[in-house]
Amino acid sequence: MKSNKVWRLGMGDVQILPGPRHRSSTKRPVWIIALVLMVSLFLVCAYIYPPQSNAACYVFSSRGCKVLTDWLPPAPARLYTDEEIASRIVIREILNTPPAQTKNAKVAFMFLTPGSLPFEKLWEKFFSGHEGRFSVYVHASKEKPIHVSHYFVNRDVRSHQVVWGKISMIDAERRLLANALQDPENQHFVLLSDSCVPLHKFDYVYNYLMYTNISYVDCFNDPGPHGNGRYSEHMLPEIEMKDFRKGAQWFSMKRQHALILMADSLYYSKFRDYCKPGLEGKNCIADEHYLPTFFSMVDPGGIANWSVTHVDWSERKWHPKSYRAQDVTYELVRNITSIDLSIHVTSDEKKEVQIQPCLWNGIKRPCYLFARKFYPEALDKLLQIFSNYTAI
Ligand SMILES: *[C@@H]1O[C@H](CO)[C@@H](O)[C@H](O)[C@H]1NC(C)=O
Ligand SMILES: *[C@@H]1O[C@H](CO)[C@@H](O)[C@H](O)[C@H]1NC(C)=O
Ligand SMILES: *[C@@H]1O[C@H](CO)[C@@H](O)[C@H](O)[C@H]1NC(C)=O
Ligand SMILES: *[C@@H]1O[C@H](CO)[C@@H](O)[C@H](O)[C@H]1NC(C)=O
Repeated sequence: MKSNKVWRLGMGDVQILPGPRHRSSTKRPVWIIALVLMVSLFLVCAYIYPPQSNAACYVFSSRGCKVLTDWLPPAPARLYTDEEIASRIVIREILNTPPAQTKNAKVAFMFLTPGSLPFEKLWEKFFSGHEGRFSVYVHASKEKPIHVSHYFVNRDVRSHQVVWGKISMIDAERRLLANALQDPENQHFVLLSDSCVPLHKFDYVYNYLMYTNISYVDCFNDPGPHGNGRYSEHMLPEIEMKDFRKGAQWFSMKRQHALILMADSLYYSKFRDYCKPGLEGKNCIADEHYLPTFFSMVDPGGIANWSVTHVDWSERKWHPKSYRAQDVTYELVRNITSIDLSIHVTSDEKKEVQIQPCLWNGIKRPCYLFARKFYPEALDKLLQIFSNYTAI
């Protein structure tokens, strides 16, 4: 019965169709050509005069307009390399896995230093009374440090030489992270130098870092010679010049971000091989570019784009301002702790300045928790005003 009906329907179609077919056989080519011409004309016009305002779009509905503009410049879609596909999927999975909840979350303070740390006594005051909520790691690249505070004793990690500008600096950072990641209670990781000092009391720093939803990795686009000028095309195809970023190395990051750095070998190897001083007549500094470029490519919304460690570049010299004992005053510390805008000065001829408010979970807050660079002679002054400034 069923197949019979279907067959009859089919027959019906066949019988009905010949009529219109015959009728249009002569007129059809003409109106098809006219239609094709009109559509082509419309497309040519739309290409030459792309709709400038929404009003123009409404002629074809706003959605139609979007489809049309999407068509026009055929975006050169790049196919990912095998390594890139593998790398991106691992990174994506780590970022999508919520961090394991630990009863006792700690901040890992990781010190990258050539030798002894001149401000251990200051850090001791900072840590004192907060046992169990932090851990300390020291990577001393030149000589074995002599520790004067018990918080630092036996906290040295196995270390290697660090050559300025080269990948060995990143290696040292990764070594510190790997050591700190071994403790599952470490949830936030701060990289500090021997010339860094804390600007706030422990609770303020702990809450600022532990309850943030992003990492504080410094990152900006510098079109000048000390930014994009250091880029090498050997980094293609994975890293294009438009992806290249700059930023100070002193980061603080969430556990997931520390993990994706451990997982990365693709982008790391590009910077190891093609970003170093003297390569192709350029002075590429791996630690100023690897992290900012990597994070802005794989998780741009996950980083703040500024560092919680303050440094004063306003003198515009090769090195930032270093504070001597006589410079260290309560007023100086109060000034630094009240800054709530981050400023990046590019190296292009216009010395363009990029300013953005420091946002903590969407709320405007002071940018800095730590500051550098202080001469060792500043210790006594810092200790004197410590009780004062940790009240900030
Ligand atoms: C950081 O900059 C990137 C662009 O490079 C941007 O997409 C991201 O939203 C910025 N992060 C924050 C927290 O604003
Ligand atoms: C602190 O900031 C004020 C206002 O910007 C400035 O006049 C003063 O010189 C600063 N003091 C120090 C020690 O930086
Ligand atoms: C962080 O929190 C702010 C405010 O709630 C929100 O706007 C932002 O998207 C969050 N960022 C991430 C990476 O979750
Ligand atoms: C402590 O802070 C007060 C202002 O509240 C300031 O006048 C004083 O000089 C500070 N003491 C030191 C040792 O810096």
